[in-house]
Amino acid sequence: MATLSGAYTETPLHLQYIIPIDFDSVEEVPQSHSWPQSDDESPRRMFNLDGDHFSIPAIDLDSPDAIEMAGHACKIMGIFQVTNHGIPSSLLREVESQAWRFFTLPARAKVKALRSPSGATGYGIARIAPFFNKFMWHEGFTMMGSPLEHAREVWPHGYRKFCEVMEDYQDKMKALSERLLAMILKYLGISEHDVDWPRLRSNACTALQLNSYPRCPDPRQAMGLAPHTDTFLLTILHQNHSAHGLQVHMEGRGWVPVFPMNGALVVNVGDMLHIMSNAMFPSVVHRVIPSENTHRLTVGYFYGPPTDFHVGPIHELTQASGREDAARFRSITVKDYVQMKAENLEKALSMIRIK
Ligand code: OGA
Ligand code: NI
Repeated sequence: MATLSGAYTETPLHLQYIIPIDFDSVEEVPQSHSWPQSDDESPRRMFNLDGDHFSIPAIDLDSPDAIEMAGHACKIMGIFQVTNHGIPSSLLREVESQAWRFFTLPARAKVKALRSPSGATGYGIARIAPFFNKFMWHEGFTMMGSPLEHAREVWPHGYRKFCEVMEDYQDKMKALSERLLAMILKYLGISEHDVDWPRLRSNACTALQLNSYPRCPDPRQAMGLAPHTDTFLLTILHQNHSAHGLQVHMEGRGWVPVFPMNGALVVNVGDMLHIMSNAMFPSVVHRVIPSENTHRLTVGYFYGPPTDFHVGPIHELTQASGREDAARFRSITVKDYVQMKAENLEKALSMIRIK
């Protein structure tokens, strides 16, 4: 996994873009974290319950229609929830409790796990922060494989459990990602051979991200996570059951909340699946709004191909139109795309779009 970290080393960040503020010590939203409010969204920003109670589809993975439903949801929205996903609820509780164990530490203890300026793993603010002139109401902890190096700094004698749980969770998330991708390929009528599936799986780039959105004195001014799309193929998100805040942007509807559903995991399409599907699946734009009453915790797992894998529209999809130029994107290696995104954020997709 060190190779993925390598893709970030060329865009080192200044410390102000790494160290979160000490949320325990602030009683109001500081200027640095106060986002301008736009008229079109301010009063409804929190819930957006505009009459039509739109919700993200929930798919039972044991259902005989699961493939059709998952594929359809990817196509229409780029996001869905899954139940009967096979991740034990005890493991979900454990990963949450280890995440709480970390985020409830005092700021001076958390910074012992601080991400290094050119690093990809450890404690810090969101990687997209430099693209915005205000800071987000968020702190995160990123892992790629074993978190041992950082965990040992934080708990010299008590790191084992944290590492065990995080490693176990990543193993299970990887298996679930593979299962979901296999379903999606089947929906597209693409054989595993067409996408070099064994190689795609062999050295997949993956990351686990713990997100903490502390209680906010004035959520109307603050932004938990600014609008973005995820970079890799798929993201699987666990939200602690009582805390909403995630919203997805839907054409013609605006911001739609993704309410946590007990026991369900949220799955969304990322840029690389958008590219491979030749834009058939949208890479859904999403953001997080903090809450005044609840400290929200989420656990995101990102799954992508190996760093040297060429991501481009799947040949069999572009051929269907019978036109040579039907591909909407040029092909790019995972490493180059990750780097392009780290430097350009939402412009990265248009940089590889074929006009
Ligand atoms: C992310 C993300 C959403 C959430 O980590 O990329 O979009 O609800 N998280 O924490
Ligand atoms: Ni995201």
